[in-house]
Amino acid sequence: MAFQPDLLQGRTALITGGGTGIGRGIALALAGHGCNVAILGRRAEPLEAAAEEIRSRGVLAAGIPADVRDPAAVAEAVGGAAALAGRLDILVNNAAGNFLCLAEDLSPNGFGAVVDIDLKGSFHAAKAALPHLRKQGGAVLNISATLHYLGTAAQLHVSAAKAGVDALTRVLAVEWGRYGIRVNGIAPGPIADTEGVRRLLVGAAKDRAAQRTPLRRLGAMRDVCDAALYLCSDAASFVTGVTLVVDGGLWLASSGMVETWAESLEQAGS
Ligand code: COA
Repeated sequence: MAFQPDLLQGRTALITGGGTGIGRGIALALAGHGCNVAILGRRAEPLEAAAEEIRSRGVLAAGIPADVRDPAAVAEAVGGAAALAGRLDILVNNAAGNFLCLAEDLSPNGFGAVVDIDLKGSFHAAKAALPHLRKQGGAVLNISATLHYLGTAAQLHVSAAKAGVDALTRVLAVEWGRYGIRVNGIAPGPIADTEGVRRLLVGAAKDRAAQRTPLRRLGAMRDVCDAALYLCSDAASFVTGVTLVVDGGLWLASSGMVETWAESLEQAGS
């Protein structure tokens, strides 16, 4: 482990979309460092399984079925998380929706569904968590992406939503700093064995992504979890408003021109 096992001892976190994928990974990492963890998600079954795993780390856990698109349900879930141990210190906005679809084929409802989940859902959870977080100070962590840094085809809906999430991170960092609440983000690249990679990197695209990544591999769950532990803990006590890119350098190397120039150099040398 990169951090002391008592890094988050006595704290409580709520993680949206915590039953599966990156959310589940972060939930287990926080639990492994002493944090009580409530997870929120739409499906009761994976939530209960993940909650059981969290409990096995020796902390309190709750799986709370709710849809982040429903502000009242989110407020209730936040209350449930705070009731676990009488406080709420950390909120991880991880719940997200995604599918590949060109803008010309995207319906208003398709665009709206992703914005409602990723962006508005993060707003609902942050707003509901504020009264709890400000009691003793705390951390909000928004899971973003790098898709919107360039122009990623078939990802207009997600790019728009995540650009909004990054704005949320910066504005809330400024507004809530005075309450001792830090608001940061993580922008993961492709993380192996996640729903995101299964949905978005079809066929050879997975190997190609690894080859194009300057660090020459896909991300591992541990890469995102270590970043989350850092940003949610006192190790980052003077860090707010930042979205930390955890992608092995992939997006920096994603411009088509990079390859063109590399090819020109090779040809010039031959
Ligand atoms: N291509 C184009 N449009 C799509 C689509 C696809 N692959 N998948 C869903 N949509 C559209 C639907 O057609 C619908 O629009 P319409 O009413 O105009 O037909 C709209 O999106 C909402 O879809 P629906 O299935 O009713 O919404 P939902 O709330 O059940 O699902 C999604 C939300 C769309 C984000 C769905 O992809 C989802 O639940 N994903 C699961 C979690 C996930 O995506 N994780 C991401 C890991 S990176």
